[in-house]
Amino acid sequence: MIILGIDTSCDDTCTALVEDGKRLLSNVVHSQVVVHHRYGGVVPELASREHIRNIVPVVRESLRRAGLTHGDIDAVAVTAGPGLVGALLIGIYFAKAFSYAHNIPLIGINHLEGHILSVFLEERSPPFPFVALTVSGGHTNIYHVRDFGDYTVLGQTLDDAAGEAFDKIAKLLDLGYPGGPAIEKLAARGRPEAIDFPRAYLSKDSLDFSFSGLKTAVALYFRKWRSQQAGGDTIDIADIAACFQAAVVDILIDKLIVATHRVGVKSVVLAGGVARNNYLRAQLQKVVSEDGMDLYTPSPELCTDNGAMIAVAGYHRIIKGERDDLTLDAKSRFPLDQIQGAN
Ligand code: KG4
Ligand code: ZN
Repeated sequence: MIILGIDTSCDDTCTALVEDGKRLLSNVVHSQVVVHHRYGGVVPELASREHIRNIVPVVRESLRRAGLTHGDIDAVAVTAGPGLVGALLIGIYFAKAFSYAHNIPLIGINHLEGHILSVFLEERSPPFPFVALTVSGGHTNIYHVRDFGDYTVLGQTLDDAAGEAFDKIAKLLDLGYPGGPAIEKLAARGRPEAIDFPRAYLSKDSLDFSFSGLKTAVALYFRKWRSQQAGGDTIDIADIAACFQAAVVDILIDKLIVATHRVGVKSVVLAGGVARNNYLRAQLQKVVSEDGMDLYTPSPELCTDNGAMIAVAGYHRIIKGERDDLTLDAKSRFPLDQIQGAN
């Protein structure tokens, strides 16, 4: 079964063709970075306009790369939420029209389910049950995943998402947008122990995250440092980036490990845009191995938003007989454990 997966939840127009929820036939991501870059973040109205312009050519390009035609597609899966409503609607309306015109099934997918299942596109995929950490620009969640479609949220951010914190600190340090890759690059030549930024672990039992205190601490330190009141010549801007990154990574790993112990699993999945961060991947790999567990991560291009992960999630719902009809609508908020038994 060949599924066309579509994601227009934020600023990338993403489509992909996936066979049997496993084999990636093509994956096209049309980035809008050049459009949003000068505003230092995503402008929702511009994102919608760009999706309208791009969706048809991007789908065409997916077919061309896979050597397929419209008639080869068996079903269409599209992100229904969470995300920017205006942006989501473009993908949803395209998907509805496509499924109607070709008389093939339509399924709306939760973007976070897509991130969790992106790892199934890899040669090495995890056995159930596992714990998944999804870290991206919009979300920071820990899930207990028992099976396809069976998810429980164990922890989530109370304020900023991890990627959002990276983007905001990058803006503060004048590194441009998107901030995650810029911070990682700068941090690579910094010393992660040079400054002791606070790590908010909340209560001992909590698996929730909070990054606002860290963000404020970094901002205060940076302003003092710039006016020469802190750090002096011994601290470089790369040290600030490295210490911020180390603090985020410490918090993420600590909570994730506590979660695995709490539910008693041996497999860990790391997914979402921030999972591209090599420092996070390396540190987590170390801790997970020391603990006798296995880590599974998608390849870097499948960590950030893509249509392939939506096709994978769509496949597992469609083979269970789930379908959506033309009333499918966008949901800006869409908790993942709410979709069980939908339809
Ligand atoms: O999953 P994604 O493409 O979109 C959302 O669903 O939000 O994630 C984008 C986020 C951005 O905040 C970006 O700064 C962050 O992922 N990101 C990174 C890295 N690459 C992307 N954060 C840290 N290090 C990276 N190398
Ligand atoms: Zn995402």
